[in-house]
Amino acid sequence: MCGIIGILSNEQVGGRIIDGLSRLEYRGYDSAGVATIDQRAIQRRRSEGKLQALRDILESDPISGTVGIGHTRWATHGLPTHQNAHPHATDRVAVVHNGIIENYQLLKNALINQGLVFQSETDTEVVVHLIDQALKAGKSPENAVRETIEKLEGAFALAIVFKDNPDLLIGTRRGSPLVLGINDDELFLGSDAWALAPWTKKVCYLEEGDTVIMQRGAEFTYEIYDAGNQIVKRPLKELNLAIGAANKGKYSHFMLKEIFEQPQTLSDTLLSLVDEQSKTIQIESPFDLSNKILRIRLISCGTSYYACLMAKYWFEKMAHILCEVDLASEFRYRDPVLNSDDICVFVSQSGETIDTLAALNLVKGMGCQTVAIVNVPESSLARAAHKHILTMAGPEIGVASTKAFTAQLMVLNILALQAAEFRKVMDKEAVLKHFTDLLHVPKQVSQVLQNVSEFDKLGLRLSQARDILFIGRGTNYPVALEGALKLKEISYIHAEAHAAGELKHGPIALIDKLTPLIAIAPNDAWFEKTASNIQEVSARGAPIFVLTDDHSFKVNAHEFQNICLPKSSSVGNCFIYTCAVQCIAYYTALHKGTDVDQPRNLAKSVTVE
Ligand code: G6P
Repeated sequence: MCGIIGILSNEQVGGRIIDGLSRLEYRGYDSAGVATIDQRAIQRRRSEGKLQALRDILESDPISGTVGIGHTRWATHGLPTHQNAHPHATDRVAVVHNGIIENYQLLKNALINQGLVFQSETDTEVVVHLIDQALKAGKSPENAVRETIEKLEGAFALAIVFKDNPDLLIGTRRGSPLVLGINDDELFLGSDAWALAPWTKKVCYLEEGDTVIMQRGAEFTYEIYDAGNQIVKRPLKELNLAIGAANKGKYSHFMLKEIFEQPQTLSDTLLSLVDEQSKTIQIESPFDLSNKILRIRLISCGTSYYACLMAKYWFEKMAHILCEVDLASEFRYRDPVLNSDDICVFVSQSGETIDTLAALNLVKGMGCQTVAIVNVPESSLARAAHKHILTMAGPEIGVASTKAFTAQLMVLNILALQAAEFRKVMDKEAVLKHFTDLLHVPKQVSQVLQNVSEFDKLGLRLSQARDILFIGRGTNYPVALEGALKLKEISYIHAEAHAAGELKHGPIALIDKLTPLIAIAPNDAWFEKTASNIQEVSARGAPIFVLTDDHSFKVNAHEFQNICLPKSSSVGNCFIYTCAVQCIAYYTALHKGTDVDQPRNLAKSVTVE
């Protein structure tokens, strides 16, 4: 979603702002812009579409200045047009914004009544006019910003520059993330630390309600004010990000690279939690296992939600703990009934998803213990939860989550195993066998990736389809859901997934010769049942593609193919079949020619509701 960059320097900043924005592209956006202050004027360039369009504009019409702000916009209020692109500006002030100003219509009506003319359809423009009015009334830039944000409801991160103060850059946040980067002779703002990593190793994560005033005098200085306008010191963090992860290397897309990184990221995640030699879990359980755990609640959005659905099978079967899974966007508004001894686990790749964060704050407010499973160590969710566990997937750039998802599965499976062992639901032998199964997972996933030509061929076939159905039972059901989500996200082909046993209750009506069925059907406890469902679909003429380890499986269909995968354990299958559906989605999108890494309308980090 929207990305913010701000730079206060002694050098020209225009080109570097664009460079910083390119590291925020992964968040998803549909227009971009930049503004600098020079020669007592605001210089501003904006463009619809990708950053390259903005680069082209800057080439023919450059800007100058040593202070500036930039933005990638994911449209919420108003179409992704030039007019609605940020920065928004008056003669005195320019603003970039991530988030939503919920009371903007009220504020806008009041401003219009005062005779102000709006240039855009955005909620952001009210912020610009409010600051501008306060400046016009003689307020200092700092006070103009303070006065304005007091009037705002909703979520925002803002970066602001002022025509008459070329040595000043202000950042402020409520709800949306904002990071301050610090060098001796430069200061930065960014929506995430990743964007600032090539420029500085020293960062400070602004906290809820913080405003930072950054100034250039004989030295570069900054002051942070908290929500109550008191000067505060926030801890400085040393960044340790692998910049190399920003390159696609030999791969044509980040998504493909990230799919292929899974043997490594799964091994890294596993070994961060267990000791391979002694086959024991190294981390302390984030749950108080000695207490009688009555219920675990798993709360998340998108792909992370499917990781939670998979974990429900594990917590209930392996550890005999009642597990409820919720979409954060539903959970937060349905007055959930919570017991103070409920364990609430929030799963998120980015750690910034607004609904997941709001659900966590709700639960915390009700006195429950919270645990976050996140891929970004300094994310808002990691900092807000009582405890957190990191997935070791490394930066994920492709909008469609792949390696972060399988790393989440690994963490959740270990937590279920730990609870099962503690509660003595699994005996020593079963626990050791499970360990061995998990230790085989990275190798088995790499076997899946050794020969992707079958996925490539299947992708070509599926790229001609208009609708595709996925089915699975048990833990294969969340795999099917994830397969359908990945496919529609990046190929724009309508895909849906159903629990195989539910086919007869409706979805079978969709079956025809043009609707391929993809069945997730390893030869496991659910195989015979799923096989019957496949027969029922083939009898109705659908092209059938079966992901299985049973090479002899056959049905009578006018188009039928087994995609053979390695034999594994029940837990191993969850990873193997997930990797297979990721590859199928990737190659289908590749053959359709869509933008695999930045699919239309989608954002990696969903920081607005
Ligand atoms: C967006 C992304 C998805 C992701 C979801 C939840 O929709 O495009 O890939 O699964 O947000 O994100 P989170 O960071 O909380 O896992």
